[in-house]
Amino acid sequence: MTTNYSMEDLVSLCKRRGFIFPASEIYGGINGFWDYGPLGTELKNNLRDAWWHDMVHCPPMGPDGEPLSIVGIDSSIIQNPKVWEASGHVGGFNDPMVDCRETKSRYRADHLEVIANANGEGRMYAFIEGNEESEERARKLLAKYEKVDALGDEYTTSLLTDIPTDAFERIVGPDTKEAGTLTEPRQFSLMFDTTVGATGGEDNKAYLRPETAQGIFLNFMNVVDTMRVKVPFGIAQIGKAFRNEVTPRNFIFRSREFEQMEIEWFCHEDEAQQWYEFWCDYRKDWWQKIGLTTENLQMRQHDSDELAHYAKEGCGTFDIEYKFPFTDPGYGELEGVAHRGNYDLSRHTEFSGKKINYFDQQKNERYTPHVIEPSAGLSRGTLALLCEAYTPDDRPSKVFMKFNPRIAPIKAAIFPLVNKNGMPEIATKLHEEMRKKHVVQYDAKQSIGKRYARMDEAGTPYCFVIDGDTLEDNTITVRDRDTASQERINIDQAVAYLDDKLIQ
Ligand code: GAP
Repeated sequence: MTTNYSMEDLVSLCKRRGFIFPASEIYGGINGFWDYGPLGTELKNNLRDAWWHDMVHCPPMGPDGEPLSIVGIDSSIIQNPKVWEASGHVGGFNDPMVDCRETKSRYRADHLEVIANANGEGRMYAFIEGNEESEERARKLLAKYEKVDALGDEYTTSLLTDIPTDAFERIVGPDTKEAGTLTEPRQFSLMFDTTVGATGGEDNKAYLRPETAQGIFLNFMNVVDTMRVKVPFGIAQIGKAFRNEVTPRNFIFRSREFEQMEIEWFCHEDEAQQWYEFWCDYRKDWWQKIGLTTENLQMRQHDSDELAHYAKEGCGTFDIEYKFPFTDPGYGELEGVAHRGNYDLSRHTEFSGKKINYFDQQKNERYTPHVIEPSAGLSRGTLALLCEAYTPDDRPSKVFMKFNPRIAPIKAAIFPLVNKNGMPEIATKLHEEMRKKHVVQYDAKQSIGKRYARMDEAGTPYCFVIDGDTLEDNTITVRDRDTASQERINIDQAVAYLDDKLIQ
């Protein structure tokens, strides 16, 4: 399926209906930061709660038919700065960036491509990978000034990072007319730092965590000592992470403050490959269960040059990718499943001087467990759910949000057909009953058509309408969001009807 709407359409609906707003909007915003409005907060919380329920409270069955053992923690965002030296983030968590001296724009060097005359002479034109407008401009300039048929095969493209720096003076940046305005790539740390305490200075520098994972490794021994867990087992955490991304973009896809949902699955080295395969399969299935369609999901193994510093050699990382409108027909990362080996626990042992390992009493063996890490983006998952739900249609609202009922921000709406004749009283009573169990909304304002349209844009799966017949025979109308079809049920069955529809 090719996306039949633009990102602008989705961003505009998110703003109009209170899903997501630019942070600090009244001051002109701040690049890479977003606020969640009432509907967006419900949606994100529902995704968070579904993950926590399915991973921690009711974890999947393992290959032996027994439920997995996973416990949750909530660690501090700021930790002792030595943590990030041990983890390899200080010094190792960098992106190469280039600046344009003329426009002051900043780019990820590994996200820029360069198109050039095939004979390697003349000017070259840089464009932003995956950005059709930028690529089109570069091709046009190449054709115009280098007299090359930019649709034919008289040109080459390569990543900016593969171009020797002495040739940079011939490159025209993505937004400039003149060549030679791009600086050489420089490494840029993605970690936000801050100062702890009143004295300030380098000695009191600390970092905002760039991943929730390290808080889990730090608490491995605490969990083993207090929870009677036996390897293999997992520790889960959901929380904020911060990265000073060079080029935050694509709405909430790449932001500077975001949330992750991570599991570190601790196992014996001999079983790690089997668990790696288990988690790759299980996590892809889970995203489908929550509402993403198979055709929009794919698994992709990392190339050796994109592996993170912790990925175990020869095993690597699989990305679960989603076909976002801005990557279509390609895919973008939604979750990574990494084989981290025993890198993190060994490094923390080395840097802290404390023993971090596991003793298997049955086998009388002490070892440092290996780790499989399914690491999902809660913010990015929310975006995938929004993209998947957006359904253009010829109904009056022109669009409806087809959320899986389990994650829909509002589960049902209750409307009196008219705001008189005893209907509001009956509707209010039903609303009071339903809201004890579910997030439901009462709405009596404007025409019934406008109320349906509002609920369609909010992605509310069911609308219950109290009308003239209700007064006669106690029945109400249930309208289905996806088909707009209606059926009548007895008002006494309405709560059970909704319960039933929400059970997955
Ligand atoms: N602990 C491993 C780790 O953090 P990662 O691939 O860097 O791995 C995991 O991040 C997930 O976090 C990604 O798949 C993505 O969903 C989300 N993520 C990473 N950077 C992000 C950003 N700048 N904005 C939004 N989500 C991000």
